[in-house]
Amino acid sequence: MKTLRDADVKNKKVLVRVDFNVPVEEGKVADDFRIRATLPTLAYLKKEGAKIILMAHLGRPEANDPAYSLAPVRDRLHNLLGEEIKFVNECVGDTVREAVAKLNPGDILLLENLRFHPGEEKNDDDFARELASPGDMFVNDAFGVSHRAHASVYAITKLLPSYAGLLLEKEITNLHYILKHRHHPLVLIMGGAKVPTKLRLISEFLPKAEHIILGGILANTVFAAKGLSIGRSRLEENIDEDLERIDLTNTKLHVPLDLIVSSDMTGSSFIETIAPGSVKEGDMILDIGPESLKEFSHIIQDAQMIIWNGPMGLIEVEVFAKGTKDLARAFIGSDAYKVVGGGDVIRVLDNMGVLDKIDYVSTGGGAMLEFLAGDELPGIEALK
Ligand code: 3PG
Repeated sequence: MKTLRDADVKNKKVLVRVDFNVPVEEGKVADDFRIRATLPTLAYLKKEGAKIILMAHLGRPEANDPAYSLAPVRDRLHNLLGEEIKFVNECVGDTVREAVAKLNPGDILLLENLRFHPGEEKNDDDFARELASPGDMFVNDAFGVSHRAHASVYAITKLLPSYAGLLLEKEITNLHYILKHRHHPLVLIMGGAKVPTKLRLISEFLPKAEHIILGGILANTVFAAKGLSIGRSRLEENIDEDLERIDLTNTKLHVPLDLIVSSDMTGSSFIETIAPGSVKEGDMILDIGPESLKEFSHIIQDAQMIIWNGPMGLIEVEVFAKGTKDLARAFIGSDAYKVVGGGDVIRVLDNMGVLDKIDYVSTGGGAMLEFLAGDELPGIEALK
């Protein structure tokens, strides 16, 4: 695989795919770990005199929805680098071409959310051609999106000389080492949303791990599949096929023993701790309870390696972040080799000031899990 260091980037228009899929609250970036992780690549390209064009996505917007604009990311990048970051409200077309034509070596231009165009997720060749047209070369520095065969990750590599960025290179080296040196007992903690990706990974990890702890919407899905009431809790649809692949009675799988529920997500209504199966129709599961924490901490204690992706509850609301934070304390206290990936857990650990206690922090969520399951990632394969 060719890396950025193999390329002559001087005066070249370099299209760089980055993973700036970060939490944005009230128009501001709430955690910038993923943005900071790309700074070495940006510094390298600037030093070498490249014209830098950044391509990224934010969330999963239905269409051109301003709530998913990358403008807040531009502001944070500007604060981090202390220099102008140019920004256009499109990612293809004349506006982009004109902005690129004005770039000087070392300048940085951020394009608007790639997912405003359906061609991105469809890996559409025409869309990839449009994306590629203003560039001389392509760099993939978005490890976190490399498990998606999307136009800006996959199809574009067929159109331009393509290289791995410094962050992608670092992720591959470190995760490859972890994959080859899995320590046992291996405990996987999985929570949050993005249920289809994670359900598939549960079935892949079941033969490889001693324990898999489930929380968040993922656990809700398992409760619902077992016929237990989950009230108005969030659930993902169309996952029957993925669920069928998993033996939900496997004793390696651990779901919460008690749940924190409320009738709304504000944290200001009545909050109750209950057993699974007794969620009232109007209530929602918003966190794990103390018994779950005790059980999960016990499992963690004996682990030699722990891989964590996804929170246990609704971390955006302080009172429902407790389960994830308490589990984080048990996690930090364990002697196991600790690996974390994905925006939400990183954000919690970052805010608690304990990110430096983790042996390896990956910018990838689903991408990290797929890599550690031994899968080939299309974005990485495309560079080979
Ligand atoms: C992530 O947050 O894991 C990556 O940015 C990929 O996002 P996606 O799951 O929406 O494709």
